[in-house]
Amino acid sequence: MNGLLCYCRQGFEPDLAAELSERAANAGFHGYAKTERNSGYVTYVCEDAAALSRSVRYHDIVFARQKLELFAELKDLNPTDRVTPMLELIAGRGRFGDILVEHPDSDEGKPLSGLARAFTNALRPALRKRGLLSDKEDARLPRLHVFFLAGTHALLASSDPKDSSPFPLGVPRLRAQANAPSRSALKLDEALMIFMSDEERAKILKPGMHAADLGAAPGGWSWILTKHGLHVSSIDNGPMSETAMATGLINHIRADGFQWQPPRKLEWMVCDMVESPRKVAHRMAEWFANGWCKHAIFNLKLPMKKRWEETRLCLDEFEQQSGKALHMHAKQLYHDREEITVFATVI
Ligand SMILES: C[S@@+](CC[C@H](N)C(=O)[O-])C[C@H]1O[C@@H](n2cnc3c(N)ncnc32)[C@H](O)[C@@H]1O
Repeated sequence: MNGLLCYCRQGFEPDLAAELSERAANAGFHGYAKTERNSGYVTYVCEDAAALSRSVRYHDIVFARQKLELFAELKDLNPTDRVTPMLELIAGRGRFGDILVEHPDSDEGKPLSGLARAFTNALRPALRKRGLLSDKEDARLPRLHVFFLAGTHALLASSDPKDSSPFPLGVPRLRAQANAPSRSALKLDEALMIFMSDEERAKILKPGMHAADLGAAPGGWSWILTKHGLHVSSIDNGPMSETAMATGLINHIRADGFQWQPPRKLEWMVCDMVESPRKVAHRMAEWFANGWCKHAIFNLKLPMKKRWEETRLCLDEFEQQSGKALHMHAKQLYHDREEITVFATVI
């Protein structure tokens, strides 16, 4: 079985399948998406999986938490020896720099986490003995993924460390900060971690910079920005939490986020307003077209059925209407529910 194996948030399989089908077709590949609702993953079956994987980059796939090159499926595994048949399929594919034994992040998949942990300990020495795994973790070599769908059923895949998520299951581990004004704070925390490297972050997110937060209440996102030393104009008719206001860096302005204009140009704008995604995308484009900010992180809420189609439309319109050369990165983050997060920065 050859193709791509991508992980996603449970329930978003049709969106990821639609996105993969479109991206593969645009890159000139013939294949088909295979998925089951609520499974937490999608496979895209295609003869030339390696070439497809090089053409469809992890960075670009909005609904994928992880992207792997699928190379084998094992059914009817014998629970007393799952290792031997796997070794046969893994041999001949070169040396791997690390292994990850995983399972779908779904109701059905989560109970397999114990097996995944135990199996890692069984497989690792067996791979090393055959020279199929480096002695120490080596990020220059591909990673091997064993993806258990059941105790007797597994998929084998590989990932390029430069073109995949570095996290097991594609899920970054972030600790909620005890005094954060809202759980939403985690979304911006994750966005700042995923969308830029440490060096990029140090360059564009500096103490003393100014930001606007549209739809700020109760203040989780504003609070995260103050943690980086930014001054924030927090726009919302709703109340801000005391924790946020106690930072002394927040100016709460009771106004409509679709009308308010900054009195001077700002470095940053973030937006978490619950509104139709197209309306938000147009407003975000207006900010860039007017040069009101250089960098933005915004959420697009997707309560509709055809979420990939809506996403593509919103991102295209945003890019066209912004009238600027932008670097854009859109992802459904782990902490995003029925929504995606977009990072845009003027080149
Ligand atoms: C999901 S909450 C934001 C949570 C916030 N990011 C945090 O971390 O605490 C959405 C907010 O958008 C605000 N909102 C919705 N429409 C708005 C508008 N037109 N102008 C300003 N705020 C708006 C709501 O009042 C609500 O407080």
